[in-house]
Amino acid sequence: MTARITPRGPVSETLLAVLAGRPADETDTLERLGRLTRDALSQDPDLLTDDDLQLTLLILYGLVYGDTVDADDDWEWNPALIETRGMIERRFEEQLRQRIPLGDLPDADAESVARHLFALTAEDGGPSLARFIAKKATREQLAEFVVQRSIYTRKEADPHSWAIPRLTGRAKAALVEVQSDEYGAGRPQRIHAEIFARTMRGLGLDDTYGAYIDDVPAITLASFTMMSMFGLNRRLRGAIVGHLAAFEMTSSIPNRFYGNGFRRLGFDDDVTWYYDEHVEADAVHEQIAGRDLAGGLAEDHPELLPDIVFGAKACLFVDGLAGQHVLDAWEAGASSLRERAAVLA
Ligand SMILES: [Fe+2]
Ligand SMILES: [Fe+2]
Repeated sequence: MTARITPRGPVSETLLAVLAGRPADETDTLERLGRLTRDALSQDPDLLTDDDLQLTLLILYGLVYGDTVDADDDWEWNPALIETRGMIERRFEEQLRQRIPLGDLPDADAESVARHLFALTAEDGGPSLARFIAKKATREQLAEFVVQRSIYTRKEADPHSWAIPRLTGRAKAALVEVQSDEYGAGRPQRIHAEIFARTMRGLGLDDTYGAYIDDVPAITLASFTMMSMFGLNRRLRGAIVGHLAAFEMTSSIPNRFYGNGFRRLGFDDDVTWYYDEHVEADAVHEQIAGRDLAGGLAEDHPELLPDIVFGAKACLFVDGLAGQHVLDAWEAGASSLRERAAVLA
């Protein structure tokens, strides 16, 4: 079963119309899609906040992941759709690189790279959303938070797995070690995305993938599309590695706060399991991801060092904006979702 997705503008509307048909029958609509995408990009949109283009990108990646939109499997490698995706990706990457200065780079040895990434993530403003959740969030806000996170977390670890065949040696072994935990180490009920589904059900939410795509803003989609772009493009393999390292390094402490917030409102272990699991697991993952994955890759491929740092900083930057969006809304007494009533009624 896939979720129903509502278009957010002419590009996503045309894409959904294309996908309702079969590749052989849609030449006119595909041509229109290309034209509308070029038009939209010529207006210099901010990809981090552009609802129409972010939704388009999410749906296009959904053809690769599956379970996102009902469409013929043959659409995955359709040249016109790959071209459309490439046009949006290039602009998205360009804008991210413009906004994220690399700063000084460390030496390309494993210890220096790990130390640099730990320092970057440590100076990352602190977990203010996490503190709000631990101390003040209402039950409705907790549900909203879970809805926001569901876009990535119901596919947790998948965007980084695209990098496995792109790596070799120490970095590959490290990535597989982390991912094995993310996928339950042989026990399906321990797959992190499935543990998160229990959290969703415990809050009375729909755990179907994408059930809440319509409800989240562009910046939430951007967090997931960015890591998908990094994972699905070989040229960005340094960035996806840096992204995972930063993600793991900023996970353990906030997850303790999140778990406490749910416990404060009386939720049991079934709901908090996901958060409690990450307090322990990510304290280990951050070490492997920092030294062996990111550090190991930089040692073997020093030319990828700038992109490793870029990926780490992009993770902090975009997830920081997504978190700030939620916090700003709550502090103003508003909802962080596009339409509150429809989701949490
Ligand atoms: Fe995880
Ligand atoms: Fe992890």
